[in-house]
Amino acid sequence: MAPSIAPELVELSRQPVPRYTSYPTAPHFTSDVTADDYAGWLKSAGQEGGAVSLYLHIPFCRTICTYCGCTTKAALRDDPVRAYAAVVHDEIALIANHLGRAPVTHIHWGGGTPNILPPDSFTALVEDLSARFDLQDWFEHAIELDPRHVTQEGARLLARLGINRASLGVQTLDPQVQAVIARIQPLERITAAFEALREAGITAINADLMYGLPRQSLGSIRETVEAVVRLKPERIAVFGYAHVPWMKPHQKLIRDEDLPGAAERLAQARLARELLVDAGYCEVGIDHFALPDDALTLAARAGTLRRNFQGYTTDVAESLIGIGASSISRTPQGYAQNAPDNHGWRRAIEADRLPVVRGRRLQPDDLTRGRVIEDLLCRFSADVPAEVAGSNLELASLPQLAALAERGWLRIGDGQVEIQQHAPEIARIVASAFDAYLGTAGRHSAAV
Ligand SMILES: C[S@@+](CC[C@H](N)C(=O)[O-])C[C@H]1O[C@@H](n2cnc3c(N)ncnc32)[C@H](O)[C@@H]1O
Ligand code: SF4
Repeated sequence: MAPSIAPELVELSRQPVPRYTSYPTAPHFTSDVTADDYAGWLKSAGQEGGAVSLYLHIPFCRTICTYCGCTTKAALRDDPVRAYAAVVHDEIALIANHLGRAPVTHIHWGGGTPNILPPDSFTALVEDLSARFDLQDWFEHAIELDPRHVTQEGARLLARLGINRASLGVQTLDPQVQAVIARIQPLERITAAFEALREAGITAINADLMYGLPRQSLGSIRETVEAVVRLKPERIAVFGYAHVPWMKPHQKLIRDEDLPGAAERLAQARLARELLVDAGYCEVGIDHFALPDDALTLAARAGTLRRNFQGYTTDVAESLIGIGASSISRTPQGYAQNAPDNHGWRRAIEADRLPVVRGRRLQPDDLTRGRVIEDLLCRFSADVPAEVAGSNLELASLPQLAALAERGWLRIGDGQVEIQQHAPEIARIVASAFDAYLGTAGRHSAAV
């Protein structure tokens, strides 16, 4: 165990808590929210006339990495991907019917591996979006890319289609770890992907890294972080491997004995953080780092940083419209999730129905608690309104919080909580103290 980490913190870090990319979290969505409800929500978003953001989910990859926690499946050929894209066009049409020609400030292509889309399919989808919606001149058009499939030609196509931000899944550069996670991608491949994107004019590049992977060590974290820093991505995310084999059966291929323990995970997260801060990156929220002049850093400093299903964002649109199987939408009225399986999603759209199968209507208490939780994860402190804290704002009487404050990791003031700089790892645990539904549905990954 790394000597500077208190054993109590290690113990706490094992605690299973949600990642809070929404509140209430997805396990609390129910069939009470129907396609008709969502149609009404889209209509009022359209009538309000405010900007919306779009998330398009492409749930295919050439091969499946053993650690993957995303909703995706293997497609060795293009046919299923093309067939899926054809249904996405129909879903876009259905949404536009309800929403109208809304102004769009962000588009995010996620997956899976969106760069698996054949060039003509991808071009047609982007053209469809720009024909049906009012894409603002300055809008952010982002995509998640698997670096193993980034080519010069592919990067030029992305640039031509207006993509201006790309996230590359680097995870680890350790060949031993790459072998266990079934994802071989040497540094030369990652460097070539960076170069292809930059040459094409896409200079806003994010790199995703991970800790807690099987056979990962402090040495391999150091080597990976140092090599990635030399490539100078604008943003770097460092995600703790979420081992949830009960939800993702392919993770059973990862042997328990290969997984770093809680103390090792904490030490890996801390080392990555130290190295990134030493290299000049600024911490943004619980797992992101960005260059000092990056918009995410500036948003964090200005207190305008937001957290949504894609993690941290500068996006302030009131509504996020999810498109594609399993995607989740958020409007001021609530969350709506599409059918998670490609068949159910397609059947609904073919029947001319929005493919929503569940969701959550937001109550005033959800909104208040959601704001506290988002504040904690975005700026490590929150003002806790009386209706959440109790009429006399006795936050210290919440047993989970009192214990953290006693250890010096949390400061509790009058209706205010502030996570101390030396213990950022407790953020999800502190957030969970304000989660009225905690423990009533779903199993979660470890806090760190
Ligand atoms: C949809 S994937 C990325 C896109 C692309 N398919 C790739 O792998 O390069 C988004 C990111 O989620 C993270 N991720 C995937 N599975 C995870 C897990 N089980 N725990 C934590 N992070 C995970 C990885 O860092 C990955 O880059
Ligand atoms: S990590 Fe990316 S490439 Fe690997 S299976 Fe998941 S979505 Fe696909």
